[in-house]
Amino acid sequence: MSTTAEDLQFKVADLSLADEGRLLIDWAESRMPVLMQLREKFAKTQPLKGHRITGCLHVTKETAVLIRTLKAAGAEVAWSGCNPLSTHDAVAAALAEEGIRIFAWYGQNTEEFYWSIDRTLDFKPTLTLDDGADLIFRVHFEHPDLFDGIVGGSEETTTGVHRLRAMAADGKLMYPVIAVNDAETKWDFDNVYGTGQSSLDGILRATSVLLAGKNFVTAGYGHCGKGCAMRAKGMGANVIATEVKPTAALKATLEGVRVMTMDEAAKVGDVFITTTGMKDVIVKRHFEAMKDGAIVCNTGHYDCELNLEDLNSITVSKREMRDNCVEHTLKDGKRIYVLAEGRLVNLAAAEGHPSEVMDMSFANQFQAMMLLAKDGEKLDKGVHELPEALDQEIARIKLDSMGIGLDELTPEQIAYATDYSQGT
Ligand code: ADE
Repeated sequence: MSTTAEDLQFKVADLSLADEGRLLIDWAESRMPVLMQLREKFAKTQPLKGHRITGCLHVTKETAVLIRTLKAAGAEVAWSGCNPLSTHDAVAAALAEEGIRIFAWYGQNTEEFYWSIDRTLDFKPTLTLDDGADLIFRVHFEHPDLFDGIVGGSEETTTGVHRLRAMAADGKLMYPVIAVNDAETKWDFDNVYGTGQSSLDGILRATSVLLAGKNFVTAGYGHCGKGCAMRAKGMGANVIATEVKPTAALKATLEGVRVMTMDEAAKVGDVFITTTGMKDVIVKRHFEAMKDGAIVCNTGHYDCELNLEDLNSITVSKREMRDNCVEHTLKDGKRIYVLAEGRLVNLAAAEGHPSEVMDMSFANQFQAMMLLAKDGEKLDKGVHELPEALDQEIARIKLDSMGIGLDELTPEQIAYATDYSQGT
């Protein structure tokens, strides 16, 4: 890995992996018809020409398809990963060879993580693209000199959007941000079906355990928790949810999921996954209550949901059993298995959400960049949503690509929908 030149164009783990990376990206492209259609359309008109986009988002084959699409539409692009354990090194190598200023490798420490973000900011972006808001925070707290050149940014995830809304409410957000997460074709698909499948994929790759008959505990029954619950149930697990929100707990109950407190669930769970976006969801007393052999992991954005400091404080020995699976032996001889160091299990131990789902999420990211490039100067320094019509357009292209047709309302039906003169 080169480390010296000031005008460093990229830093990745191993450029010789580029061929493998290109195959992965080609595979993803064959499953992302919405983004490919947008690419074809806007390659002609180059609406992003003159823009420098800095992205901070998991470096996966799907992200590479987004990056190629932004580039095809005329943008120059610089990129870093948004999690130390989520970069796919082969993909990063392929992107470096394609001229992307990419600073990302698997297994970064905290210093390397922020160093990488800073290198992408050397590029002086006009637009920022985030997953988790680390890039926006970095601009705000370390590089405020960049504000003048930045038209706007976008944010991919629930956690990031919450924080940015809090920042905007305090008057601290210095440029407009589009909440990509809040598009229906993002949260209602990516967060549910994407997280459901990829998290179980990560658990299975890291453990290969049988899920049928196991007590599978999801901490949180929001969209992500629900996705994990649905898939675990489909594989024959007995699903338990823990919640703090009454309506979410009620939904889980009516969907056939047992709801209990984490104190109760800790005693009976075989596999635990945290999906809450909150810190300290599983702490010392929960680890102490767990059964021998319990498996714990997280699929929330940050690695603070499992308190691993607490677990380490009661651990007498550790063994790495297999990739992304560490055994902790406690004083009484009980063993607890932690997956992917408590980081996003779906990206660290598997490949993240499938391409078909990221197709819609990233079509929204692309549209956010387009909207900001066109109208960003007119938006206030707050958090904004994408127009509903774009959601329907993305869903329509997706359905077309699946060969699924829709009925259309007749003019009489359209009139009927708003006709308040007709009742029973
Ligand atoms: N987040 C979840 N899955 C992802 C993927 N495959 N690529 C990028 N970001 C993701």
